[in-house]
Amino acid sequence: MVGVNFKVTLAPSNRQFEIAEGSTILDAAARSQLSLAHGCRDGSCGSCKSRVLSGQISHPDNCAGITPDELAKGYVLSCVATADSDIQLESDWYPELDGIKAALFPCKVDSISFPASDIAILTLRLPADSIVNYLPGQYIDLIWKGLRRSYSIACANTQGAGLELHIRQLAHGVFSDLVFNQLKPGTLLRLEGPHGTFFVRDSEAPIIFLAGGTGFAPIKAMIERLFEQHSTRSIHLYWGAASVDHLYSGLPDEWHKKYQNFSYTPVISSDDTGWSGHRGLVHQAVLDDHSDLRPFEVYACGSADMITVAKTEFVGRRLLAEHFFSDAFTAHKPNK
Ligand SMILES: Cc1cc2nc3c(=O)[nH]c(=O)nc-3n(C[C@H](O)[C@H](O)[C@H](O)COP(=O)(O)OP(=O)(O)OC[C@H]3O[C@@H](n4cnc5c(N)ncnc54)[C@H](O)[C@@H]3O)c2cc1C
Ligand code: FES
Repeated sequence: MVGVNFKVTLAPSNRQFEIAEGSTILDAAARSQLSLAHGCRDGSCGSCKSRVLSGQISHPDNCAGITPDELAKGYVLSCVATADSDIQLESDWYPELDGIKAALFPCKVDSISFPASDIAILTLRLPADSIVNYLPGQYIDLIWKGLRRSYSIACANTQGAGLELHIRQLAHGVFSDLVFNQLKPGTLLRLEGPHGTFFVRDSEAPIIFLAGGTGFAPIKAMIERLFEQHSTRSIHLYWGAASVDHLYSGLPDEWHKKYQNFSYTPVISSDDTGWSGHRGLVHQAVLDDHSDLRPFEVYACGSADMITVAKTEFVGRRLLAEHFFSDAFTAHKPNK
């Protein structure tokens, strides 16, 4: 049976695309080469929240990324919502991502190292004719042994030399356990990507990067790209971790010595002895330094809790909500 096709019209741009019955709005837009805002792609993070101005949609209940109140007010998550009629949707799309299309690639583990007992740095090599075209900040899905998990690309290099990932081992984590116990140089896997709309926007505004744990990975790629571009924007990285060991890269200190426009505040949340720097929650270090965040753009990556509290409190310090960009490391959903 041939499925019904409806039309989605984006407001205010008036861009249109077709959507087949049963397809999510996000997937249908991607098939028409339009990138709508998104993160996890499974209803968990809320990045794709947008408002339906007219038309009928179907939406699953109990998505962590949206409240019943928001649903009642006409908001939907475009990564899980499907169309039951032509619809008009209040949503931007990202021309910066035109020409960037997710695809499936074979890849091989080039190296694996462990800068902390529960952090792995993986480099992946792709066949010579395969290039993952991405913007630093985006992520890929790693597919292995019938499992699929999302990991941010931790390097700015887009010239096909390979990809770097930073993976934290979670207690009882199915995939991260496999990475730590079975993955070896030479292991063959597949990856799908790039995905996500976390990338540095074109602007002159000073930037605050907020990283929690391995949330440093996409931020490292973004900062490397800014340096490659000889950006003169003011860049301040706040990197929070449970303990000193978990600030697993010496790069921020090197960048601080090398680039005048880069500054760095590491923050530890535990009682580690011998640490004389900031202690507490990483977003609090930003609040301690800034009474007025109006001039800034903030790029935040880490747990959903860190991102939610940072956005609320930064907007309370006059940050424009549309200048807060984030990628939340939400847990995998089996249906993804
Ligand atoms: C867009 C995106 C980018 C990501 N990038 C990275 C990255 O660069 N580096 C990285 O280390 N992780 C990243 N993650 C998280 C990653 O995809 C996996 O969720 C994580 O590795 C756990 O997988 P697992 O199979 O080991 O654990 P699972 O077996 O899936 O889960 C084990 C237990 O841990 C909980 N859990 C799962 N994920 C998390 C989490 N992130 N925080 C707290 N509890 C969790 C589960 O609810 C479950 O109780 C990203 C997630 C998203 C959505
Ligand atoms: S909730 Fe839709 S992309 Fe995360």
